[in-house]
Amino acid sequence: AFNLRGRSFLKELDFTPREFRFLIDLAADLKRAKYTGTERQHLRGRNIALIFEKTSTRTRCAFEVAAHDQGAHVTYLDPGGSQIGHKESMKDTARVLGRMFDGIEYRGSEQRLVEELAEHAGVPVWNGLTDEWHPTQMLADALTMREHRDRPFNQITFAYLGDARNNMGHSYVAMGALLGMNVRIAAPRSLWPDADMVVKPAREVAHRTGATITITEDVTEGVQGADFVLTDVWVSMGEPKEVWDERIRLLRPYQVNADVMKATGNPDAKFMHCLPAFHDRHTTVGEDIYQKTGMEALEVTDEVFESDASIVFDEAENRMHTIKAVMVATLG
Ligand code: CP
Ligand code: NVA
Repeated sequence: AFNLRGRSFLKELDFTPREFRFLIDLAADLKRAKYTGTERQHLRGRNIALIFEKTSTRTRCAFEVAAHDQGAHVTYLDPGGSQIGHKESMKDTARVLGRMFDGIEYRGSEQRLVEELAEHAGVPVWNGLTDEWHPTQMLADALTMREHRDRPFNQITFAYLGDARNNMGHSYVAMGALLGMNVRIAAPRSLWPDADMVVKPAREVAHRTGATITITEDVTEGVQGADFVLTDVWVSMGEPKEVWDERIRLLRPYQVNADVMKATGNPDAKFMHCLPAFHDRHTTVGEDIYQKTGMEALEVTDEVFESDASIVFDEAENRMHTIKAVMVATLG
């Protein structure tokens, strides 16, 4: 029905609503096949490069496990482990890797770089996160939402709180538009999603899919009636340390806590987070923030994170099944 072979996966809005949905359906099929022991290998003998210019737990492991399940080999280049940018241009790197690999995952800073890689590599390139977008995460989140709500996407409402001007905020707007969902963004105005790059094109898509996109500063308005409450870190990878104070000041009212979950008015509302999350002091960064601010948690309280409403580990697992779908669809 859909032929995505040879396509790169760089950002959500490069895909039609039907193509995007197809990837979610394929992921569900692959997940079922793995669980029932009927998975067939579509990537046997393929060679895949995994380039990470920022650190990762989920994305790297998802690509590695998915590739192994499907019979492919991976080569991992860690942050600082390649010549890209300092000794060799992206264009040259792309032409070299394109001669050796059948597909390339890239996590880095500006979206422009992953686009340049895709332009010159001659093989599918998959965006493993940039400053602007996190598209593989969106497939996982959509699959997770569908698993927890037995109804079509256009009858699902999600609310994203916090830094909406980052990759996650942008990608949620695009994903919700493509899937015809009710999208709510609650954030301080200065951290609203980029108008020209994100909101405008997403509203055009929403026009066709029936999605609604509400962007507000009001938490209660944002979460009222939501099926899912989502958030992300307040400072993203690659941002300077200096933004912490300002972010905490701006975003403190947008912390997902028990009151926010209650404000949905929906006793069955679920909590999601792409992870990693600052919900306790069990990390060096978490401890550091506590020493400076006295806050035990930032974007989500430990109470919500550890509650029955939290489906963050289903979401994390689904990174693997959905990334597998992207590789199989574009390379299989
Ligand atoms: N959610 C996510 O992308 O996690 P990692 O940074 O660990 O890959
Ligand atoms: N916004 C976060 C997402 C991490 C998966 C970051 O870019 O650091």
